[in-house]
Amino acid sequence: MEAPVNSERASRKDDHVRLAHEQRGDAPGANAFDDVEFVHHALAGVDASRVDLAVRVGEWRWSTPFYANGMTGGTEWTTRINRELAIAARETGMPMACGSVSVALDHPEAARGFAVIREENPTGFVMANLGVGRSADDAVRAVELLHADALQLHLNAVQETAMPEGTRDFSCWEASVERVVAASPVPVIVKEVGFGLSRRTLLRLSELGVRIADVSGAGGTDFLRIENARHDSDARRSGHDFSMLSGFGQSALACLLDAPEGGPALLASGGVRNPFDVVKALAAGAGAVGVAGSFLEALLDGGAETLVPLIERWVAQTTAILALLGAAAPAELTSTDLLVRGRLAEFCRLRGID
Ligand code: FNR
Repeated sequence: MEAPVNSERASRKDDHVRLAHEQRGDAPGANAFDDVEFVHHALAGVDASRVDLAVRVGEWRWSTPFYANGMTGGTEWTTRINRELAIAARETGMPMACGSVSVALDHPEAARGFAVIREENPTGFVMANLGVGRSADDAVRAVELLHADALQLHLNAVQETAMPEGTRDFSCWEASVERVVAASPVPVIVKEVGFGLSRRTLLRLSELGVRIADVSGAGGTDFLRIENARHDSDARRSGHDFSMLSGFGQSALACLLDAPEGGPALLASGGVRNPFDVVKALAAGAGAVGVAGSFLEALLDGGAETLVPLIERWVAQTTAILALLGAAAPAELTSTDLLVRGRLAEFCRLRGID
């Protein structure tokens, strides 16, 4: 029998939010976005009033080049977070995702934690979210629950490894991706949860029918640290300590720079702290940029009342930076001159990237 929702599974949802918040401390840390610079061309700028931030992602047009990435839902606390996020998305026209809806598929009483999104944001762009390994039927139910425009399907092998209750059998994942893509009534966006999608993975996803992928790389919310922190010392003593994997995976920028020609259209996320990071990811080839931890902080601080002005600031600042860089639209950023330093440059050298 499934455990009732208000038990271990539910407390995991609350733990993720609490620990994601705790691990950020007072200021978001340094990451691979700091390894990228633009060559400044003092005469290249354009008129900011001519800059249009809208992006095309697959068949969609999004008015902001960033979106709220999949986080949460299902418990009392996380339902409130989803409600506030949905209000902020509605007020700003920003696309948004919810966290994994699998809890609601297994425990109908948790569905409210996701349905609340459509109550507050009936016409906005909403992505449902599900972990790989679920059935085709579950994928359809996830989309229906949210009346979703797209389905995020997350690959989280590193996180599962760090969870005592996590799966150890990843061998069925390719077949699962293929089944979900074939069954989903809306486009599927395959994403990581903060460890990156490699060139090989992106090529394989393409062969499995995936048209859009969010590389979701390392350097922001760290699910290894979160899962390690969730386990008490007993679990550690019995061999469930995977803190040795710290630093595992690739950053979003590494994934973007290493991405193959002819792979899925790319979204990027993982460690995005501010609009300059958004612009760097767009310049490195992302069609749009996902933000989880940074927006969660604002939600925890003051709900939609805090997140809406933050998003408005991000829109204004992103616009201004595009004007400075001479890009009238996000797609034009790919012709800016990027400099890559430090660990990211080392990654590029080792991977043979110019
Ligand atoms: C997440 N993330 C996530 N991803 C997913 O696909 N399904 C999920 O249920 C969750 N849950 C979740 C909870 C919390 C509290 C956070 C902060 C994040 C991962 C998220 O979408 C993203 O891939 C990573 O967090 C990296 O982005 P940031 O946080 O560095 O911007």
